[in-house]
Amino acid sequence: MMDASHDLPTTDGPDLDLLVCPTCHGDLARTGNQLCCGSCERCYDVTDGIANLQVARGFDDEDHLERWNCEECTGAHMIEHYMAPLLENLFPDADRAALRLLSIGCGVGVDVEMLNALGYRCHGFDVGNRVKSWAHRSNPRAYTRAAVQCMPFRDGQFDFAFLNCVLPHVGVVGDSQTVAKDYAEERARAIVETIRVVRPGGYILLSNPNRLCPVDLFHRRNEHSHVPRFHRPSEPFLQSFDDHHRAFVVEGGCRQAETLPPANFWGFSENSKSSRYLVGKILQASIRGYFDLLSARILAPLRRGALNPWLIVLVTR
Ligand SMILES: C[S@@+](CC[C@H](N)C(=O)[O-])C[C@H]1O[C@@H](n2cnc3c(N)ncnc32)[C@H](O)[C@@H]1O
Ligand SMILES: [Zn+2]
Repeated sequence: MMDASHDLPTTDGPDLDLLVCPTCHGDLARTGNQLCCGSCERCYDVTDGIANLQVARGFDDEDHLERWNCEECTGAHMIEHYMAPLLENLFPDADRAALRLLSIGCGVGVDVEMLNALGYRCHGFDVGNRVKSWAHRSNPRAYTRAAVQCMPFRDGQFDFAFLNCVLPHVGVVGDSQTVAKDYAEERARAIVETIRVVRPGGYILLSNPNRLCPVDLFHRRNEHSHVPRFHRPSEPFLQSFDDHHRAFVVEGGCRQAETLPPANFWGFSENSKSSRYLVGKILQASIRGYFDLLSARILAPLRRGALNPWLIVLVTR
């Protein structure tokens, strides 16, 4: 039987201008339904146009359509009301089509789709089950299955990379808030890789529930719980501002790290479980008001401490 993929035009299938071998960073070429490395000769499968370049441990989650629908809405809100204005501020005179953006652990991938629609060149990758959502995206070429510990990109290829609640989920057992024995090594590899693929002077944006705040509003103990997760500020699952500063600036050699105002990041979706209950709605409105307060310039120092539940850190590479 003839393999039609041999004759695919170069605009179909994985983006070979961008992707390299995740093992040795050699150039990849398409051979049938695989991408093969010209240097180390390893081959990687391509399924439905999406390359599987995962060579490190993945994320062992289960399908959860309700949660993914919710992430579709909160992600769209975040891009429109937070990320788009931030990018305008960081790159005021730039030609959007010349800027390379990377969504690390992009999940359902609405962020990638919207940023491309705004004229940026954005790529996303992930390893969990959320990759199934990419089949419905307008441009599957903008997505790759890959792990943050071993990225399939050249050094300094991106102007801006972002990890929206990804680092806490690297090095955990299954899809839990319990870390595996080697979690510190896995996260260290993820951080080294993130720094590697961003150009000097480019930016890395990290966001996650703040380890120092004992109330985690963004993870639940289990699927059926509506109650925020209470935890010790010393727990290893989450990160604090100092954790990021140490990893990226002190040890990673980046220029600086600062917290950003959390206002407008979270627009709680109408689809979310808590939006269906009056108590949930009141809680969401209070959280939004509190984030507006924490965004006042005079209160900026508080964002690093225990009073801030959602940490947003901008690292200058
Ligand atoms: C809480 S979700 C956030 C998804 C997305 N960034 C968003 O804001 O909707 C965490 C994501 O990290 C991804 N992830 C976990 N470990 C990863 C790894 N080692 N490499 C790449 N992605 C990973 C998961 O598959 C999941 O999509
Ligand atoms: Zn190779």
